[in-house]
Amino acid sequence: MPRKIAAGNWKMNGTRAMLAELSRLPTPDGVDVVICPPATLLPVADVDGPIAMGGQDCHAATSGAHTGDLSANMLIEAGAKYVILGHSERRTDHGETSEEVQAKTKAAYTAGLIAIVCIGETLSEREAGETLDVVGEQIDASLPDGATAENTVIAYEPVWAIGTGKVPTTDQIAEVHAFLRGKQPDMAILYGGSVKASNAAEIFGVPNVDGALVGGASLKPEDFGPIISALSES
Ligand code: PGA
Repeated sequence: MPRKIAAGNWKMNGTRAMLAELSRLPTPDGVDVVICPPATLLPVADVDGPIAMGGQDCHAATSGAHTGDLSANMLIEAGAKYVILGHSERRTDHGETSEEVQAKTKAAYTAGLIAIVCIGETLSEREAGETLDVVGEQIDASLPDGATAENTVIAYEPVWAIGTGKVPTTDQIAEVHAFLRGKQPDMAILYGGSVKASNAAEIFGVPNVDGALVGGASLKPEDFGPIISALSES
């Protein structure tokens, strides 16, 4: 059985004060709780506490002339254990291709980070009936050789469900997760996109859903706490 993971993606949000609030989150046995805050907060996070920290991106190179970028080693040095790679906002805002995501994922492995590799279809791709083709191509092209259940977590995040309040039906989630499970029998496969306390239990009841990558609802313990508890009880 893959492990259960509740991961929070703070995106470009969060303060030191919000980090201090994390002590209010439940950390039940059997669930890995991960927060990926802006990298500037990693050095002030309690990296030895029960909540693992992660970055939201890393460069494929270990060092060099890449203004504004961070290497996987830098994230490790700042206390990160995980890194989110290939999030749809990076694929869209920064034009990241799956080939680039694969190179970054390789760099993450070399540094010793666990990569949370994100994939997902747009609304027009879903409406065209291309969802499985799109996520299949993304996963094949984004995961390097050497990807294992120990160094990689998959996050299926339909682009149209991110930050919109729109959630796929449980049948739609089940179809994609079963397809991904067929490709990766042992890896944890998270669902992401408008997960909140009110829908978490239903989503975690879907076969092959091993947890969630949560954006907006991970910012406050009163929102994220019940999601973690729902995963623990699933
Ligand atoms: P959301 O974001 O939970 O705010 O929809 C999810 C994500 O982008 O990882």
